Amino acid sequence: MPASFIFYNARVKTWDAIIIGGGIIGLTLAIGLRKRGFSILIIERGELGHEASYAAAGMLADCPSELPQSLWQLAAASAKMYPEFVHELEDESGIKMDLRDNGTVLLSRHALPEDNLQKDNLRALTSSELAALEPEIKHEGPAFFRAERSLDPRSLTKAAIAAIKHREVDVVSGTTVQQVLISSQKVTGVLTEKREYSSAIVINCAGAWAGEIFPRQFTTKPVKGQMLALLGTSLQHVVRAPGVYFVPRSDGRLVVGSTLEDAGFDKRVETDVIQRLHQAAIDLVPALQSARLHEAWAGLRPGTQDEQPILGETATQGYFAATGHYRDGILLAPITAKLMAQVILGEKPEFDLSAFSVLRFEPSHRAVG
Ligand code: GLY
Repeated sequence: MPASFIFYNARVKTWDAIIIGGGIIGLTLAIGLRKRGFSILIIERGELGHEASYAAAGMLADCPSELPQSLWQLAAASAKMYPEFVHELEDESGIKMDLRDNGTVLLSRHALPEDNLQKDNLRALTSSELAALEPEIKHEGPAFFRAERSLDPRSLTKAAIAAIKHREVDVVSGTTVQQVLISSQKVTGVLTEKREYSSAIVINCAGAWAGEIFPRQFTTKPVKGQMLALLGTSLQHVVRAPGVYFVPRSDGRLVVGSTLEDAGFDKRVETDVIQRLHQAAIDLVPALQSARLHEAWAGLRPGTQDEQPILGETATQGYFAATGHYRDGILLAPITAKLMAQVILGEKPEFDLSAFSVLRFEPSHRAVG
């Protein structure tokens, strides 16, 4: 979708907040802050919603044992918010986003301790139960069921874009923020390659690119994921197995993911990698041999040094970060928007965000000994 073009005199106009990055985190935060009365400008280097959010699989997976405790609290809260979040966006945009509630089948190579089953709310499946749920899966080891949702992230971002338009959020796209402008240790706006934009509040939601913006107060690292979609399958559940996962969509697509690659900002799709992933999918579900390859793509997850997001104010007054959501940006979008709006408005956030503070990367904050 082309950028929405907003014409104004940039020298006189100021906004209550500028959001750098129009992925699902920036879009959702823009909606949250508009609801609190803020005027907002989003500056997006490419096209709204067309980076990690477009590439994402859309599993709303909040398994406690897969996430650090502090992050799990946010993930669980966000997963709970999803039905209402989706309902509201569907209502506002008229766009359906294929929120599915069929649950997830987890395939393991080894038995899991009883404690894990309880902690993660996993129900062990007998082989006949697995065959009843997903007759085409060929798997010898233990299998489990977990109640989890999934949705199509592309329709989610499409709906969020419609909502920000409806809410009169200003957007400039196709231009890169190079620098956050600071005067007397307070934010005054941002500088793109073309011009300055003025605001006393700037939120860096630039995903994998967030750490590229000056002053570099934190680093982010792109983690490439290559994926494919097949057509003509009967899988009904999200399936997670060692080395491969499946996310079915209601329109018949089956998303197959994904690689985790340290390849810088390289987003090329490599035929041999896609073939290997495709083969891993066929090994687990032989019927996929006859499914048609519909699409292959790659995206860059916003990684951080400790694989946890960066949420909150930086050392500079008025400069905030909401980035580094790594593999969970879609899941964490609603809670991120809620918490960041609270922080920006000077309210006590609903969850303790100290584990996600940008300041954790400062040498003085690291554990010694
Ligand atoms: N969230 C799925 C992935 O990172 O591959």
